[in-house]
Amino acid sequence: MYPEFDARKLEGVGFPGILLLPAAMVHEPAMTAAPSPWRFCVAPMMDWTDRHCRVFHRMLSARALLYTEMVTTGALIHGDRARFLAHDPVEHPVALQLGGSDAQELAACARFGADAGYAEINLNVGCPSDRVQSGRFGACLMAEPQLVADCLAAMKAAVAIPVTVKCRIGIDGDDPHVRLRQFVEIVSQAKPDAFIIHARKAILKGLSPKENREVPPLDYALVHAIRRENPHLPIIINGGIHTLEDAALQLTHVDGVMLGRAAYQTPAILCVVDALLFGEGDPVQPEDGLARFMPYVARKLEEGVPLAAMTRHILGLFSGRPGARLFRRYLAENAYKRGAGLNVLEDALSLLSSRHALLEMADAS
Ligand SMILES: Cc1cc2nc3c(=O)[nH]c(=O)nc-3n(C[C@H](O)[C@H](O)[C@H](O)COP(=O)(O)O)c2cc1C
Repeated sequence: MYPEFDARKLEGVGFPGILLLPAAMVHEPAMTAAPSPWRFCVAPMMDWTDRHCRVFHRMLSARALLYTEMVTTGALIHGDRARFLAHDPVEHPVALQLGGSDAQELAACARFGADAGYAEINLNVGCPSDRVQSGRFGACLMAEPQLVADCLAAMKAAVAIPVTVKCRIGIDGDDPHVRLRQFVEIVSQAKPDAFIIHARKAILKGLSPKENREVPPLDYALVHAIRRENPHLPIIINGGIHTLEDAALQLTHVDGVMLGRAAYQTPAILCVVDALLFGEGDPVQPEDGLARFMPYVARKLEEGVPLAAMTRHILGLFSGRPGARLFRRYLAENAYKRGAGLNVLEDALSLLSSRHALLEMADAS
C-alpha cells in the first residue's frame, strides 16, 4: 500500500491547480489490496501523445501509465509498421492503443505491439470521428458489445500482456444506464484486464470530435456505480478531470484515473503524481524535468528531428508562473526556425527568471 503522504513535501512548490489534500484522500480505495497499474494514466491523444511527448511526460513522472495515439490495424498491417510502433525504452510503462474491429487483425496487431515491447494493448471504443465510423470502429462499437468481446478475446489469446478497452457510456439516443451496463456485462466475458470509461456519451451524428469531448454531460456517478456493481473489474475513469485534487477524489471510487487535456496542457500536474498519488519521492521541479528531457532533445536533433516537433509538447509546462507566457511565445516563435537548436530552449528557459517575467507578472496583477 501507499506510505502516508507528507503534505509538507509540497510546501513552497507552486504547482498550478494542485491543492494539498488530507492524507486519507490520497490512499488507494479500500476495495483493492495491491496498487493498480492504472492508478494514474495519461490518455491516448491523436497528434498529441506522440513519442516525443511521452518521453517528456516520463521525465515528469515515473509512475504514470502512458498511452500512444490510436494506431489502426490497417496502418500496422499494410503501412510502415516499424515507424508506427517505434518508441523509446525510457517511455515505459507505455500502452499501445489500437483502432479496429476485425478480431483476427486486432489479434495480429496486438502481437506486433507485444513483440515491440509495449506493456499493454488497448482497444479504442470511444473515438467518434466520421473517418473512424466509416471504418466501423471507435465509439460506434458501443452498439456491438458482442463484436467487442470477440475482438478482446482474440487479442487476449494472442498476447500475454494486459488487454484493455477504452469506451464511452453510450452513444446517440442510448440511455447510458442501460447501454453501459449491457456493454460491460457482455464485454467482461472476454476478461479484459481493465475498462477505461470516458464518462460521457458520444454523439455520432452532428457533433465534431472536439464537441464530443465537451458537450455531452459527464456522468461520473454511473461509472462509480459500475465499479460498485463489478468489484472484480478494474475501472478507470476519464473525462473532465482537471486537477490532482479531482483525481484523488475519483480514486476513492474507482481504481484509476485517466487525464487527457489537463495532463497535456498543464504538464506540471505530472510533476506531483508520484509523490501525491503513489507516495514516492518528492515532487519533481518542472525545471528539473525539463533538464532531464534535454539530452533526449539533443540526441533527436542530431538525428534530424526538428526542435519544434519536441518543444510543442512543453509549451504549458510553466503555466501559471511568472514568465510562462514569455517562455511559451519564445518557443512558439523560434523553435520552428530552420536549424533551431538546444540554445533556443535554453534561451526560453532563461526568460522565466528574467526582469521581463516580473513585468509580465505585474501586468497580470
Ligand atoms: C487532441 C486529442 C486527441 C485524442 N485522440 C484520442 C485517441 O487517439 N484515442 C482515444 O481513445 N481518445 C482520444 N482522445 C480522447 C482522450 O483520450 C480523452 O478520452 C478525452 O480527451 C477526455 O479526457 P479529458 O477530459 O481528460 O481530456 C483525444 C483527445 C484529444 C484532446
